[in-house]
Amino acid sequence: TTLELIGAPTDVGASVRGAGMGPDALRVADLPGVLARMGFTVRDAGNLHGPATPWAAPQEGLRHLAEVVAWNRAVYESVDAALGAGHTPLLMGGDHCLAIGSISAVAWHARQRKKKLRVIWLDAHTDVNTNTTSPSGNIHGMPVACLLGHGPAALTGWSGEQAAIEPDGIRFIGIRSVDSEEREAIRDQGLRVFDMRHVDENGMRLTMADALHDVDEETHLHVSFDLDCLDPDYAPGVGTGVRGGPTYREMQLCMEMIADTGRLGSLDVVELNPALDVRNRTAEVAVELIESLFGKSTLVR
Ligand code: ARG
Ligand code: MN
Ligand code: MN
Ligand code: MN
Repeated sequence: TTLELIGAPTDVGASVRGAGMGPDALRVADLPGVLARMGFTVRDAGNLHGPATPWAAPQEGLRHLAEVVAWNRAVYESVDAALGAGHTPLLMGGDHCLAIGSISAVAWHARQRKKKLRVIWLDAHTDVNTNTTSPSGNIHGMPVACLLGHGPAALTGWSGEQAAIEPDGIRFIGIRSVDSEEREAIRDQGLRVFDMRHVDENGMRLTMADALHDVDEETHLHVSFDLDCLDPDYAPGVGTGVRGGPTYREMQLCMEMIADTGRLGSLDVVELNPALDVRNRTAEVAVELIESLFGKSTLVR
């Protein structure tokens, strides 16, 4: 397998500055070297280019829409090219708005190959706001809605269909911060949210067994990993951290169980904010978790 690392150094969809330094923090933590030593062919495609973040007020409920579109267009093109070349794209964000471009490209390819797309959304937040429900106007809180086909025309329909993913095509893990109108979207669309209470009551093992039980040979699995999924004690370098998340061990098991499916086809690693980190700890933790996601195991090599 060739892993293609794509850097998208922007915080354009976020509320807190600094996620634009994420790609280089992952390189400093030696993500490319670690994956290469696992036996993968690693191609670091370098960083994409896009507009600076204006830090302007939201307009019609959307902050920095034009810049978000530009960055996502660049992400779409490079993820599309990586998949077209038969490579596994690994998007290094950047904030979570970039999942719009990334997953839209993945959805297009999955449809061409007649694969069932399944997204695993690892996050403290469900990111299912729209410009009419968002309390902040920050587009990193809206990618799931856009991918489900709900959002501004400029950010929907990129996969060739209005909805890149069906409501039944996504599983949320680690959720503990949901805005009041997001709750309604979750209920109305029947989204499968494994919140922290679910993880507390069932443990990560049964949670992931449930989330992954119908993944089969025909599935393209996409993981969208927002680092604020982890408890901030383990991952302090994020802009919108929320107490009460999975521990390092729980997150490792989550990644190992995804790896065991053998169906991982693409990955986003987003919301890493080196400006808020402690000696690059969050990037290092991310690299260790990504190793497990790509199949590292203590006893089997
Ligand atoms: N729900 C909040 C909002 O919509 C926070 C979203 C945080 N999203 C993220 N990708 N970190 O503004
Ligand atoms: Mn090749
Ligand atoms: Mn989040
Ligand atoms: Mn997120």
